[in-house]
This record gives sequence, C-alpha cells and structure tokens, in this order.
Amino acid sequence: MNSPQTAAITAVHGWLPPDKLTNADLEKMVDTNDEWIRTRTGISERRILKDPKKATSDMVAEVIKGLCAQRGISPEEVDLVIVATVTPDMFFPSTAQLSCYKSGAKNAWGFDLSAACSGFLFALRTGSQFVTNGTHKKVIVVGSDKMSSIVDYTDRTTCVLFGDAAAGVLLEADPTGKTGIQDAILRSDGAGSEYLRMQAGGSLNPASAETIAAKMHYIEQDGKPVFKAAVTSMADVSYEIMERNGLGADDISYLVPHQANLRIIDATARRMGVGREKVMINIEKYGNTTAATIPLCLWEWSNKLTPGENLILSAFGGGFTWGSIWLKWAMTPKA
Ligand code: UT7
Repeated sequence: MNSPQTAAITAVHGWLPPDKLTNADLEKMVDTNDEWIRTRTGISERRILKDPKKATSDMVAEVIKGLCAQRGISPEEVDLVIVATVTPDMFFPSTAQLSCYKSGAKNAWGFDLSAACSGFLFALRTGSQFVTNGTHKKVIVVGSDKMSSIVDYTDRTTCVLFGDAAAGVLLEADPTGKTGIQDAILRSDGAGSEYLRMQAGGSLNPASAETIAAKMHYIEQDGKPVFKAAVTSMADVSYEIMERNGLGADDISYLVPHQANLRIIDATARRMGVGREKVMINIEKYGNTTAATIPLCLWEWSNKLTPGENLILSAFGGGFTWGSIWLKWAMTPKA
C-alpha cells in the first residue's frame, strides 16, 4: 500500500430485519437459558429475516440504496459492488448481481466474496485496490448474511449465536492519503475448515436426500477450538498491525472487532491494551451476523467519529480466516 492515494469511507449504512429472536424465545425452542447465553457469548437477542421471499440480496439492495442516499448520488453512479457473504441467494447469479439489479445500480459490475466472518475485511481490502489504482471511483463493499437460512434451530450449540443483517460502506479516493485504509494484514488457514463449516450443497456433497437427512446443509461448529484460535489470531493480528505502524493504544479511537463472542472481543482488546470504552460492541442486540458485524458497528458509531480518527478493524472466522485493517475515518458527523 505505497500509493499516496487511499480508499476512504465516504458513506456507511446498515439494514436490520425488524423481527427479533430473543434468548427467551430460544429457551422455548432448545434446552438453553438466558443466563448461559449471556455469560458465554454476550448475546441477548438477534434479528431474523422472516419474510420467506426475501434473501441476502434484498438486504444488500437496501444498503446500496441507503449509501447512495447518504452520499447524494444515484445508484447508477456506482462502479463496483462487492458482497461478502456465506449465505448467497443462490450459487449463481451472484448476490452482487441480484442486489445491483434490485437497487438500480445498473452500471456496476460486482462479485461475491466468501471468507465467512472475515468477509468484510477481505472485501474491504479488495475493494480498496480498485479505488487506489484509480480505475474505479465509487466502490461499494457490503457484508450481508441471512444466517437464519443455514442455522439448525434444534442445535443449541449454534442456534443461539447467529442473526441476520447487512451493512456496508462506499469507498472513494482520498488523493491526500490522510484518511481511508492505511494498512491491512489478512490471513487464512484451510486446516481450520473441519471446525466450522457447512458441508453440503457444493461440489463435494451435492444436495441429496442423504445430505438433508444428515443435516449437512446447516452450520456445524466445534466451538472450543474455534474459540481458542479466534482469541489468539484476532489478538495477535490486531497487535501486529499496531506495532508495525508504530501505533499505541492512545493513538486508537476504537477497536472494531467481529462480534462472535464477547469473551473473544475482550481478549483482543486486552492484548492491544485498549479499554472497553474504546471497543465497539453491539453483539448483545444482534448476535453474530457473520460478514455484517464490522460495518454494522461502523454504522452505529458513525456519528461519534470525526475525520482522522484511527480505527482498528479485526475479525476471525470460518476457513479459518482472520485479519486486521487500520483505517483513518474520513466522514464528518451529521449535524
Ligand atoms: O464467528 C465465527 C467464529 N466463531 C467463533 O468465534 C465462536 C467461537 N466459539 C465460542 O464462542 C464458544 O465456544 C461457544 C459460545 C460456541 C460455546 O461456549 P463454550 O464456553 O466454549 O462452551 P462449550 O462448547 O465448552 O460448552 C460448555 C457446556 C457444555 O455442556 P457440558 O458438556 O459441560 O455438560 C455444552 O453442552 O455448555 C453446554 N452448552 C449449552 N448450554 C446451554 C452448549 N451450548 C449451550 C446452550 N445453552 N446454548
């Protein structure tokens, strides 16, 4: 990232389904309780997209429209849309194509990017390249997942964790390089695939009566090893990006962590030496929305941020995938 021109966030928007699934609701569905869920995960409720006719692309389309309205541009001015998701509407066409169509972004090309809970960071890094190299002026990056479509609501070890949401950003060039994405460290290790995955529906295990009977179209997670890897990897990579850029805890306005588990978030903040007051946390209200968690935080906190503030974005997820991005905020709070 040596080019002086950076990719800056010039709009941020989120969309949440109206229906809530609370811990009390889950107590009626599986053998769990509010106390266990809150103390082990930090989650109290999540949003669920109940309308059977709506999918991930509908949530993305709302985000695209919201970003354009906020920036005062027409969706037709958007050049590229990247959608990070593990719950695409279908294998093809891509969710990006469907959401461009639904939002009126008819001059944009786009594609889906699959990196589970690190999807937004992988997509942000990818999208920023098109801006910094000058080939694209307006790039939208959205993290969106309808996790309720792949959650087994009879499995208490996973169904309490996930929710549905979409959120994203508009990227445009900052020719001065003083705001926008400053550095990124992204990593992956396929050896982690056995601990967090959805096994069927792809080319390895095409859908069949057997895969359905074996519940292979749902998320399966071995929580403990994922937890251990998440704590170490997210904390290490967040520390590494600060260290290699000479940033101390005092230089950081906020840590923006993926919201999978409050205990993982706290461990990451501790390793960075950052206090809770400087950590964006909304897991209590939305649970783990996979690719949407980080932009959802940015959206909810955007009115508290001023240009030039340093943010460290950090994620860990299926793959395994993980990473950290250092960015300088570019937007002025709304009056
Ligand atoms: O976002 C992608 C990356 N994903 C993550 O980062 C998630 C990482 N993993 C975690 O967050 C945690 O491992 C979980 C929240 C999934 C589980 O927490 P844990 O502290 O690791 O619990 P555990 O799996 O070790 O289970 C402890 C006990 C078990 O009972 P026994 O064997 O001790 O009798 C479970 O059967 O809690 C039981 N348990 C539950 N009890 C009530 C598991 N799920 C539930 C539940 N309600 N929903």
